Amino acid sequence: MAESLGSQAVSGTIDLDSRNGSLRLQDLPDSTEQVRAPPRTFTLSKTKSATKKNEPKGHKSKASKKPSGGAPPSRHRYTAANADKYELYQLAVQSPDTDVDFLTETYEAINGRKPRHLREDFCGTSLMCCEWVSRDAENTAEGYDLDPEPLEWGKEHNFGKVRKLGREKQVELYLEDARAPGRKAPDVRIAQNFSYWLFRERAELLNYFKLAHDSLAEDGIFVMDLYGGTEGTEEMFEERKIEGGFTYVWDQDGYYPGTGEFFCNIHFHFRDGSKIENAFQYHWRVWGMAELKDLLAEAGFSQVTSYFEGDDEDDEEEGNGIFEPDQRGENCASWIAYLVSQK
Ligand SMILES: C[S@@+](CC[C@H](N)C(=O)[O-])C[C@H]1O[C@@H](n2cnc3c(N)ncnc32)[C@H](O)[C@@H]1O
Repeated sequence: MAESLGSQAVSGTIDLDSRNGSLRLQDLPDSTEQVRAPPRTFTLSKTKSATKKNEPKGHKSKASKKPSGGAPPSRHRYTAANADKYELYQLAVQSPDTDVDFLTETYEAINGRKPRHLREDFCGTSLMCCEWVSRDAENTAEGYDLDPEPLEWGKEHNFGKVRKLGREKQVELYLEDARAPGRKAPDVRIAQNFSYWLFRERAELLNYFKLAHDSLAEDGIFVMDLYGGTEGTEEMFEERKIEGGFTYVWDQDGYYPGTGEFFCNIHFHFRDGSKIENAFQYHWRVWGMAELKDLLAEAGFSQVTSYFEGDDEDDEEEGNGIFEPDQRGENCASWIAYLVSQK
């Protein structure tokens, strides 16, 4: 899921409907593979001390990064030779169950009824669309991404559950820009894992927000995540061991305060000493929460609310995984938050 820029034209693959770039599940080869639930240990968490996003357990400076061990590959489930970068990404980075819980509960708290239609921008492997539709027989989802590779991967690996439930027709994927018009007004539209940071110009981001606003159903919400904190733009590596036997490395490679440009990479390291370097690379602009709130209001949203994570009962230096409305937040070393914008 390397970054694709702006409104670059993309041609469909043979699996995509060449007329409109859409991909319908009923057109796809049968697969019974189940969605693999991300490890329960993964939650979006804040840290008040020296750590950062996605529940890290301490930074490693670039200089202190330790080489991995050298055991024979056959003893290890994942190696650079056999691992699939999209599977590793999903295991390390995504938690669709907790995200869908948050989206559903937040919409219900605001509107007193269940949301039904989801639009997932920058959907990649469309894990969120699949989780959404697997939750309820009435749910539908549409996903948008410019890169055919993760879309193809997702249809092969993430659709087992919806197919088993007979809900194939309730998920539609489009090889289109996140700014493309939708097919149905969403109750909930999302841009997850900071993907909208690829819009580096103010006018570009504002335009995206206006399109998101206008697309929503009555009472619809637009939800983005973001992260920050005193260490949010430090140049550093964060290593995290993932259940199943590999290490996820988040590499904040370069930050330019004059432009806000932020270069980040994801690497995967394995117990046998092998590595996949730069599996994913991002060229973002870091957007602060306050300026995002201003932009969202300018785009027409009637109410924009930040949701920060509460404190862990036993250790107030750690987050508890529960996100509550909080317009100010707390100046942690690292925090993750949602921004919920009401039409
Ligand atoms: C960080 S990944 C996000 C994957 C997944 N949705 C998640 O939450 O982890 C960013 C995705 O955005 C896609 N992308 C980049 N520019 C885009 C654009 N203008 N419109 C739609 N998708 C885009 C990339 O192809 C990539 O799959």
